[in-house]
Amino acid sequence: MDYELETIRQKVKECTKCELSKTRTKSVPGKGNFQSDVIFVGEAPGRNEDKNGEPFVGIAGQKLSLALEGAGISRESIYITNVVKCRPPNNRVPTISERETCHDYLQKEISIIKPKIICILGNTAFNSILGGSEITKYRGKIVKKDNQLYFLTVHPAATIYNQELMAVLKQDIIKLFDLIRELKNGKQILADIDYST
Ligand code: URA
Ligand code: SF4
Repeated sequence: MDYELETIRQKVKECTKCELSKTRTKSVPGKGNFQSDVIFVGEAPGRNEDKNGEPFVGIAGQKLSLALEGAGISRESIYITNVVKCRPPNNRVPTISERETCHDYLQKEISIIKPKIICILGNTAFNSILGGSEITKYRGKIVKKDNQLYFLTVHPAATIYNQELMAVLKQDIIKLFDLIRELKNGKQILADIDYST
């Protein structure tokens, strides 16, 4: 475990910076391999995550694991986190203020891990990190912003009652790891959307 990341974990566990700290059971720091080439970013912990203190351990997590398996990737080899680290009551979408208050933790996770690419899972992460909307329109695309690459895909929870979307998620995750392989081989990746120009 990386020392700096462990410090963030502890801070998240004890954090009371926003109102969500009053209703959570456990806060949910990011989890996984600190040397990962990719960070997956979801929205916020749900019921199971709130109970266990770990990200993506409920049904949405099972969907994500399935999609990863389809690309031959284990959960342990990657790093997973959320835009906000505490569960919003009744799983409502976290407010702009909650997201902004929590943003520093995500920023630190990214600057410590320095992933080759960040995988955005769903609209809340898309909106919070890149100011985007309509993920179903942009999914599968590569974004470049401030010298960081991002890959956009749907939220695993959206695939729970939608087999077609599950197929889309699986296909996207395969594309993502193909891209990572190319990046590691030193290939230049052209972004579909480049915010730096
Ligand atoms: N949904 C999320 O966005 N994150 C989790 O950790 C679990 C479900
Ligand atoms: Fe702190 Fe983030 Fe939890 Fe709010 S959501 S209490 S800012 S860790």
